[in-house]
Amino acid sequence: MSEARRPLISGNWKMNHNHFEAIQTIQKLAYALNAEDYDHVDVSVHPPYTDLRSVQTVIQADDIPVALGAQNCHWEASGAFTGEVSTSMLAKLDVTYVIVGHSERRELFGETDSEVNRKANAVLAAGMTPIVCMGETLEERQAGAAESKVAGQVQGSLAGIAPEVVAELVLAYEPIWAIGTGETATPADAQQMCGHIRSLVADGWGAAAADGVRIQYGGSVKPGNAPELMGQPDIDGALVGGAALVADDFARIVNFRLYQA
Ligand code: PGA
Repeated sequence: MSEARRPLISGNWKMNHNHFEAIQTIQKLAYALNAEDYDHVDVSVHPPYTDLRSVQTVIQADDIPVALGAQNCHWEASGAFTGEVSTSMLAKLDVTYVIVGHSERRELFGETDSEVNRKANAVLAAGMTPIVCMGETLEERQAGAAESKVAGQVQGSLAGIAPEVVAELVLAYEPIWAIGTGETATPADAQQMCGHIRSLVADGWGAAAADGVRIQYGGSVKPGNAPELMGQPDIDGALVGGAALVADDFARIVNFRLYQA
């Protein structure tokens, strides 16, 4: 983590918590964190679509300094796209961050880099910040193809986005073999790939973009491993799945600084 980049700790709730459970979780999180816990870190929660309005209402009513996030979106503004949600609908709910290209979307729902690129552009056009995800499978890592896979994802997902906009983006490196498995990349492996991603951004968009862009690590981040992961120079935050469902665990990850050696 660099002092210049403010870390972003994001909780991706995936397809968990109905809107009643979502209200309880955001309230518990608010109780578990103090005002000063937010001094050095940005925090976002990404509930399912059906919970967004409820969580937004609690955040506003209680003045909780947690940003609202979404897990996905469609790239078209409106129209005959049954089951989809547009970025203007999300922006209207005061959503700040939208995850695009999560590996579960890519692997289970066939999302391509060019679709991820269209989504990222739609999120930006609606005045929100995309969290653009990338990462390799275990087979790709074992075959020595992890870096080239991630390079293709960076280039494809960010194609055509202006350097000054890339500087404000959030990228998330999530090795697929570490998601929901209890396996975490070692801090050294995670740092190595996040450094690689930053150098790809420098090559494609220049040094200022590479300096500004925030790169999260995701994949079995827990209270116990967050301090060391967050201590790496090119890791600027965490995208947390399972541990984000339990407010106290997520609060301890947000407070990683207190547990750093
Ligand atoms: P996990 O999920 O923390 O449960 O591994 C991370 C993610 O998919 O964002």
